[in-house]
Amino acid sequence: MKVLVIHGPNLNMLGKREPEIYGTFSLDKINRKMMALASELKLKLSIMQTNSEAEIIDAIQKKDYDVLIINPAAYTHTSIAIRDAISAVGKPVIEVHLSNIHKREEFRKKSYIAEVATGQISGLGAESYLLALRASKNILSSN
Ligand code: DQA
Repeated sequence: MKVLVIHGPNLNMLGKREPEIYGTFSLDKINRKMMALASELKLKLSIMQTNSEAEIIDAIQKKDYDVLIINPAAYTHTSIAIRDAISAVGKPVIEVHLSNIHKREEFRKKSYIAEVATGQISGLGAESYLLALRASKNILSSN
């Protein structure tokens, strides 16, 4: 049961980046929390962060996971290419956001990813990722 987490652009700056919106946890801290929960849930977890749209698409196409958890960050609102990669691969995908994208600027309300994702978790800070891991476990157990 393999879960891949992809953190998109600028998420390497978490903790220092607009903490009033994204919280004070560093990406490393969020990753450590996920690793601990994954071992409790007996999930094999891989985590990557990239600022590159192409690298995100390559990782999706590689299909080296049973469930994908992705925070596409700003690409959420722009990337038909990431949407098409998810659609082409056809694996379960959970879209995650730290902030609630539906109560921010108008341009953030549109997600190209939501249309092809299994589900979306938005607005719960680091907890969004942990809930996505629990949902991944449920998806895999019910298969
Ligand atoms: C984000 C929300 C996006 O609108 C933004 O561009 C991000 C982070 C979030 O996790 O809240 O970079 O995906």
